[in-house]
Parts: sequence; C-alpha cells; structure tokens
Amino acid sequence: MSLQNFLADDQLSKQQLLDLIALAIRIKAKPQDYQNVLAGKSVAMIFEKPSLRTHVSFDIGINKLGGHALYLGQQNGKLGERERVSDYAKNLSCWADVIVARVFSHNSIQQLAEHASVPVVNALCDSYHPCQGLADFVTLAENFDDLSAVKFAYVGDGNNVSNSLMIMAATLGMDFTLCCPPGHGPSAEMFNKALKIAEQSGAKLILTSDVSDLGQQDAIYTDTWVSMGDDTKVEDILAKFMPYQVNHQMMTDTGAKIVMHCQPAHLEEEITTELFDSELAVVFQQAENRMWAQNAVLVSFFQ
Ligand code: NVA
Repeated sequence: MSLQNFLADDQLSKQQLLDLIALAIRIKAKPQDYQNVLAGKSVAMIFEKPSLRTHVSFDIGINKLGGHALYLGQQNGKLGERERVSDYAKNLSCWADVIVARVFSHNSIQQLAEHASVPVVNALCDSYHPCQGLADFVTLAENFDDLSAVKFAYVGDGNNVSNSLMIMAATLGMDFTLCCPPGHGPSAEMFNKALKIAEQSGAKLILTSDVSDLGQQDAIYTDTWVSMGDDTKVEDILAKFMPYQVNHQMMTDTGAKIVMHCQPAHLEEEITTELFDSELAVVFQQAENRMWAQNAVLVSFFQ
C-alpha cells in the first residue's frame, strides 16, 4: 500500500485503514525488518502546540526506521505569521522527506499538503487526531478478535479525537456511540460526514447526550473536557460534564472490558484515578501503539 499524505481520517478507505492497522502490528512484531526504510531520510516536525507522546513517539519511531527527526517548535512563531504557510511548506520540502505537523487549524494542514512536494502527516489539529485514531484501532485489534464486532463508545467532549474515532469506526463498519453533553457534540458537518460513510459501510452510529443510552459496550473511550486551543475554563463546565465522568460504575453498567484515553488525563475530571490506574485501562498500550501506528504511516509513504 502506498500513501501520499495522512491528513484526515475521512480520506482513508476501509482497506487502507485495515492495511495500516495490519502493518503497524507487523512492524511492532518485527521492527528489525523495517530498520532501513527511512535510511538517509529526514522528517521535519512542526509543533504549534505542546506534546509529549506525539513528539517522542515520532522522534524515536523515526530513529527505529533509520531516519532523522528534526523538531521545529515555536521558535519561528505561529505558522503563517513570519512567512506564508505555502512558503514554509515549499522551503521544508527542499530538505525534508516528510513533514509532520501539529497545528491549531486544519486549514494549515491543508495548506501544507497543498504546497509541499513531500508527504504531510497531521499530528493533531482542531478537527482531527488521525495518528491517535489509528493507534487506537491497533489497540482495539490487539484486545478483541474481531474488530468489526467491537461495540465502542466515546464519552465526553466532542473534539478532534472523537471526530477521528467516529470517522474511522464508520469507515470500518463498527458500532460507535458518541455520548456528549448537550452543545458539546461534533459539528453537524462532521456528524453528517460520518453518517454518510456509515451508510456505505453498514456502521451503526449513535449520537446521544444520555449516558443511559450507552447500553452494552466493549470499550469506552474518553479525553479531556477542554482541548488545547480552547479557552473554556474547566470550572465553568464541570457541573455539566460530571455525569459523563468515566468511572468504575460506568464500566460495570455497560459491561465494557477496557477503558481508553489518549492522554494527558485530567484525573477526577473525565476519568477517575482509580479507573485510570486499574487493569481495565489500556492507556499505555495506546501510547506505545502511537509509535507503531505512525511508523506504519511513514513506511507507507515509501513502500
Ligand atoms: N483533544 C486533546 C487531545 C490531546 C492529545 C487536545 O486537542 O488537546
């Protein structure tokens, strides 16, 4: 399989997604078979927002593929301020073989991809977090025998992570329930996009604000109630979000076997410390899989 870019979940077919998941699992099992895929190649990594997992997993992952990673933080100011995003993309394309970018706006990702002559990877924007989504489906595939039969629910703020999970679940034809407080679900445009994909794949998508609609689930996922770049004060939404806290009671009520979180976790807000630290949490497996999933994407650019 060869990919041109990795920008947004809705650009991936079911087969591409399944191939990427299978490749990530193969690379994880035998990293030595892929140790020269990026030999002599450099990856420029632009970060407009903070990062632990994405930065480290790309840097170390690129090293495992024999390549060189270059971190570009905020020293050049916000993207598009000192020079046009298009010129930034064209300059980086002179030297780098791949551009990885974590940006505020999805528009910056689109502009980078439009003007770069090398592949671009979305390492999180306001609309999507496709690297996280891919790693999460690798993690689900490792925990359940039949990915297509997994009943998967996201509970909390509708955000970039839930958008990626919803679109990928729709593409894969899974059962996906999104449970968000009123006014905090996905945009109508995003949900309609997912519904259209679901129509084709046979996925069952449920959007609800009622936690009792969760029914039986296999895996429950949550993320921060306030994402980077959102200036909402958590104190102002705490009361509204508290019924959506993922805790042992919710795991018992839904029968879910695992709980997932992309981290960083805000303990005692979207998830209890007790649950995050429990055997039910696969959060560090997800974190590890970030690297293998991203390496699958990088390998797919060159093989
Ligand atoms: N939704 C979170 C994800 C962090 C990895 C954010 O955008 O801040």
